[in-house]
Amino acid sequence: MIQKEWMTVTNQRNIANRIYELTVRGGMVASMEPGQFVHIRTGDSFEPLLRRPISIAAINPEKSEFTMLYRVEGRGTEVLAAKRAGDKIDVLGPLGNGFPIGEAKQKAVLIGGGIGVPPLYELACQLNARGVETVHVLGFETAEAVFYEKEFSVLGETHITTVDGTHGIKGFVTHVMNELPTDFDVYYSCGPSPMLKAVEELYVDKKGFLSYEQRMGCGIGACFACVCKTNDERDYVKVCSDGPVFPAKVVVA
Ligand code: FAD
Ligand code: FES
Repeated sequence: MIQKEWMTVTNQRNIANRIYELTVRGGMVASMEPGQFVHIRTGDSFEPLLRRPISIAAINPEKSEFTMLYRVEGRGTEVLAAKRAGDKIDVLGPLGNGFPIGEAKQKAVLIGGGIGVPPLYELACQLNARGVETVHVLGFETAEAVFYEKEFSVLGETHITTVDGTHGIKGFVTHVMNELPTDFDVYYSCGPSPMLKAVEELYVDKKGFLSYEQRMGCGIGACFACVCKTNDERDYVKVCSDGPVFPAKVVVA
């Protein structure tokens, strides 16, 4: 059930260039799933006016805490980055439909790009807990933007790519994907639309689930700000309430 809650910041730290790790505590954590997101009123007043969508990156039900990983882009995320332990933030969530983890039986490949990497972390944790082997392919612009390499490596084989070659393999995630064995049941991916399109084309014969990002207004299916065209009979879907995760080949990115 969607809740609106004032959650308490328990930790915030800068983990890479313009990338922050923010942990908050509150009751809604109990119903969170990997791939879902929250909609945050980042300022204390109504500035900025609109909430900002951020993915759920890690869930700790024992402590009633969850963690977000976000990049400072503009006013909303700048205000969020100033929050400190003990501050309260206005959170709406959990929102959307997450990754169908039951589709993975033995082995899954997780492909993330930039700020699309965060939701894959909780997914990898939960798949590992179910005994599913996970292979991670994570793409970033440059070495300074890389985050959670160690955290993913603990969970399984992890490949890092950077566009400028300053860390890991030079190039895009597809360079690594071309070399990987295809003996996996399913792939999951989150990142910019051109990356998702490339992933979908490369793994055209495999079962996959993609998480899309769109500019959002309400976050709950009421304003149509986030519609995307589809290949199926629906014609259009709302990323916030029908997604953000969709089976591969459904959304026209
Ligand atoms: P603004 O001033 O609003 O915008 C600054 C720049 O960011 C502009 O260039 C704008 O075009 C771009 N931008 C704004 N919103 C989006 C968006 N939705 N998608 C792509 N570009 C955008 N970001 C993270 O860092 N970590 C996450 O885990 C994360 N999860 C997301 C999950 C969902 C379902 C969606 C839709 C977006 C997610 N984003 C995530 C993107 C995040 O919502 C935006 O970066 C944020 O809203 C920017 O707000 P701002 O006020 O700082 O910047
Ligand atoms: Fe309002 Fe999706 S953001 S319908």
